[in-house]
Amino acid sequence: MELRVANVRKEFERFPALNDVSLDIRSGELIALLGPSGSGKTTLLRLIAGLERPSAGSIFFGEDDASHKSVQDRNIGFVFQHYALFRHMTVLENVTFGLRVRDSRRRPAKAEIRRRALEFLDLVQLTGLEKRYPAQLSGGQRQRVALARAMAVEPNVLLLDEPFGALDAQVRKELRRWLREIHDRTGHTTVFVTHDQEEALELADRVVVMSKGNIEQVGTADEIYDNPVSPFVFGFIGQSSRLRVRVENGELWLHDRSIGIKAPEVRDGPADLYFRPHDVEITDGCGGCIAGLVTATRRIAGTCHTEIDVGAGQDRIEVGLSQDQSAVVKGGRLAFKPRYYRIFPTG
Ligand SMILES: Nc1ncnc2c1ncn2[C@@H]1O[C@H](COP(=O)(O)OP(=O)(O)OP(=O)(O)O)[C@@H](O)[C@H]1O
Ligand SMILES: [Mg+2]
Repeated sequence: MELRVANVRKEFERFPALNDVSLDIRSGELIALLGPSGSGKTTLLRLIAGLERPSAGSIFFGEDDASHKSVQDRNIGFVFQHYALFRHMTVLENVTFGLRVRDSRRRPAKAEIRRRALEFLDLVQLTGLEKRYPAQLSGGQRQRVALARAMAVEPNVLLLDEPFGALDAQVRKELRRWLREIHDRTGHTTVFVTHDQEEALELADRVVVMSKGNIEQVGTADEIYDNPVSPFVFGFIGQSSRLRVRVENGELWLHDRSIGIKAPEVRDGPADLYFRPHDVEITDGCGGCIAGLVTATRRIAGTCHTEIDVGAGQDRIEVGLSQDQSAVVKGGRLAFKPRYYRIFPTG
């Protein structure tokens, strides 16, 4: 099922949790909503589910305007961050719940409900555990039951709000791979919320980066990492360093010196230069480069993280040097040029 969020705004007592957000989700796509806490991810998911009503704008399921449809009529599967299994029901009863409560017109026969639930339990690799209660399962197993329960109703759309958020890193990683496999087999249109960028980049067909109630960028993992469209996205995805510079006649200046970077398309005035700390080239002299005093060095897994003070009230900046360059010493001077960078005017 295709989904279209068109100019949706959501206010809670005049507080804008979402500002005019638009998003097209393709049928069968696995989409990740990624952003810091409070950026509006859960709000957007709840609006799609029908658990909240938009203050303005519409949500389409296929061609249908679903904005005023109830949760039931939208036929969605939902998994929340915190285990939301019914504690007094067995695994099988949990998975069959959504089908059992349907009105008689749409409810499959008892044997069919059971058959379908067992099939989904097999899919999430929990065969044999159908008689257990949630308290008798591990966290990862409970989330898999929640997923089987969400899928058992054959939803138009599967909505997952940080389903692995409460689990430890190793289990998260396994479930992530496994979710991707299940998605490829079942082909559900899936919207997945996370604030873990690795999870989003590894799992999703496309990532929606959100900040302060806005969508900042939508793209594949590579597009977003290689071509961040805003300072927020550059800083949020992957490692980044920022230097406050000045653009003058198509060149970048730091204090009174040109740093050897051309910027013919950027208007004159203050700007932020963003670069990836590990994507720099150390230079010998400094006729057009960035230079400063090394204030700290730290070796982590083969990379020497070096903090540099370029003076004049700037924040310290970080570059990541490979092992062979780690002759760099604290208190020494270091000159470098970023290989890949972006310039965002700030004035
Ligand atoms: N029911 C509500 N009443 C008032 N404000 C709300 C309500 N729900 C959400 N908000 C506010 O809307 C903003 C977005 O919240 P939302 O839960 O969508 O963020 P999120 O991106 O899911 O964050 P997290 O990663 O912490 O789950 C927040 O500032 C939050 O305080
Ligand atoms: Mg949330």
